[in-house]
Amino acid sequence: MATGLHAPILDWYAENARDLPWRRPDAGPWAILVSEIMLQQTPVVRVLPVWDEWMRRWPTPAALAAEPPGEAVRHWGRLGYPRRALNLHACARAITAEHGGRVPSSYESLRALPGVGDYTAAAVASFAFGGSHAVLDTNVRRVLARAVRGEEYPPKATTTAERKLAESLLPPLDAPRWAVAVMELGALVCTARAPRCADCPVAAACAWRLAGRPAYQGPERRG
Ligand code: ADE
Repeated sequence: MATGLHAPILDWYAENARDLPWRRPDAGPWAILVSEIMLQQTPVVRVLPVWDEWMRRWPTPAALAAEPPGEAVRHWGRLGYPRRALNLHACARAITAEHGGRVPSSYESLRALPGVGDYTAAAVASFAFGGSHAVLDTNVRRVLARAVRGEEYPPKATTTAERKLAESLLPPLDAPRWAVAVMELGALVCTARAPRCADCPVAAACAWRLAGRPAYQGPERRG
């Protein structure tokens, strides 16, 4: 379904992707896990300096696991929702105690780590280990709502229909690149407010744009 989206979005990403340190080939699974937990509720620009400091201070799960939990909170900066710092610390201890100090690679074992939900498990399994998973963050959900379903916003909570749609769109090759490309399109072009359809590689095929960009009709508005 809608596989015509693949090439234009992947080509757009090749030209327009931000160079973010956790996307570089040398970013390991731990660096990616930390970035995804920090990015859950905090914008990229605020995450960058804190992630940098964490990676210098605690380059491995074992390094963080050796600290008392309060140290993680102390170095959380202004990211907000500091429970995430405690969750990362608990992740580091679980990874050290149960996985020999290496971030596990399967969706299921990631999902079992403290504070790791569906999104984060799929993102780390995909970006760190090359797995093929539907990575449904708010940006991806908005792009799919518009381009495929013709709606301005996705529902408040992820539905089975959204998951099925995202799974049907997984490309046979390089699912991680597809996931990050759609995420980036949502972050930079198909934004929650004032989307830049003139710059969108799939504007001509976008169901929402073809319908005249109707306002969201659902019960709860969601960015
Ligand atoms: N690249 C990989 N994961 C990301 C995220 N959650 N937000 C922004 N860029 C990312």
